[in-house]
Amino acid sequence: MKIKLGVFFGGRSVEHEVSVITGIQTINNLDKSKYDVIPIYISRENSFYTGERIGNIEEYRDIKALIKKSVRIIPVSGSGRCELIRYPLKRLGSSVYDYIDIAFPAVHGTNTEDGTIQGFFRTLDIPFVGSDILPSAAGMDKYAMKTLFRDAGLPVLDAYRFNSKEYYKSPGNIVQTLEEKLRYPMIVKPGNLGSSVGIKIARDRGGLGDAIDYAAGFARTILVENAVENLMEINCAVLGDYENARASECEQPLSFDEILSYEDKYVSGGKSTGKGMGGLRRIIPAPIDDGVREDIRSLAIRAFKALDCSGVARVDFLMDKLSGEVWVNEINTIPGSLAYYLWEPLGMKYSQLLDEMISLAMKRQREDSEINYEIETGILAGFSGGGSKGVKL
Ligand SMILES: Nc1ncnc2c1ncn2[C@@H]1O[C@H](COP(=O)(O)OP(=O)(O)O)[C@@H](O)[C@H]1O
Ligand SMILES: [Mg+2]
Repeated sequence: MKIKLGVFFGGRSVEHEVSVITGIQTINNLDKSKYDVIPIYISRENSFYTGERIGNIEEYRDIKALIKKSVRIIPVSGSGRCELIRYPLKRLGSSVYDYIDIAFPAVHGTNTEDGTIQGFFRTLDIPFVGSDILPSAAGMDKYAMKTLFRDAGLPVLDAYRFNSKEYYKSPGNIVQTLEEKLRYPMIVKPGNLGSSVGIKIARDRGGLGDAIDYAAGFARTILVENAVENLMEINCAVLGDYENARASECEQPLSFDEILSYEDKYVSGGKSTGKGMGGLRRIIPAPIDDGVREDIRSLAIRAFKALDCSGVARVDFLMDKLSGEVWVNEINTIPGSLAYYLWEPLGMKYSQLLDEMISLAMKRQREDSEINYEIETGILAGFSGGGSKGVKL
């Protein structure tokens, strides 16, 4: 029997649109002889919709109209699988619209990729593709991720983190600390966004204030680090899990400006070609020596394992072209377009990548089923009720 696969995309995130592209690409590239694919669009209001049109990219030109023509559903756990219940419920007959065996999150950014949707799938008790809750959450928090990388002995740039409220109480103190610990130019980033949103370079004290004000508009936590000079960016994807993980080809993403912007990543190439991240201006393979390539590939695998990731992730590096120094910048636990274009040069097709990701989800479910989630304590049986002391476990 075919696996019923629910592909989830969208959600309340600044990367909503990019997620629609990744979601639809995933749907289009899944092997339909193996999977019965159910597209599930999460609106910006976090409502779930499915139906025939939901898997068609053309329909997203007018999302309001699309929603009107689609079926709103609520996923609920039931009899070992996840049922999709029509909402509002039907007055007569069953409201079960369909069901899914496995969830495939093709989401990017906060409120989705950051462990939120993974937690939702765990609560529904349904196997899901990709990293579990903790790696997903850590991968979205730039400081938490750095800390885990550093702990695993990986090269990362020192960063200073603060809360924007703390800054506005005494901006002078924070600026002083930053100037003591770091040097100009500095990079100021919101602590937990993606796609370069809210990021600015600061060349002097005035620029630092402006960059902090800008980042504060996007997140409460702000991160500042030294800007890498003679910058060359290199990305490498990793596929697997804690046991076996392998690295893809390396790419050099190209920017039109100092900072690789949202515009660079998705609009310039993405819109016209419809390729999502696959349309970004980039050089594959990255123009680096074989030795550097191998170093980066093995650092990428170590970074993937440091967070205990699963499925496919993309690890992004910063390199000083002149000194040759390399730092792990960040990991994307659900990379744009699932980084399919980094596997193709190694002979792996998009559909094969998706097959492997789904197999890994099934493997994790088998391993999970060997874990005990219940222990016999007898606490409730011996609880006589009405006690005001409560129980201390
Ligand atoms: N320390 C740094 N030095 C120089 N450029 C940086 C640095 N950190 C980030 N950048 C630039 O900003 C871009 C976005 O930063 P990144 O940390 O990758 O955040 P995001 O999660 O938004 O992608 C990078 O692709 C790079 O172009
Ligand atoms: Mg990045």
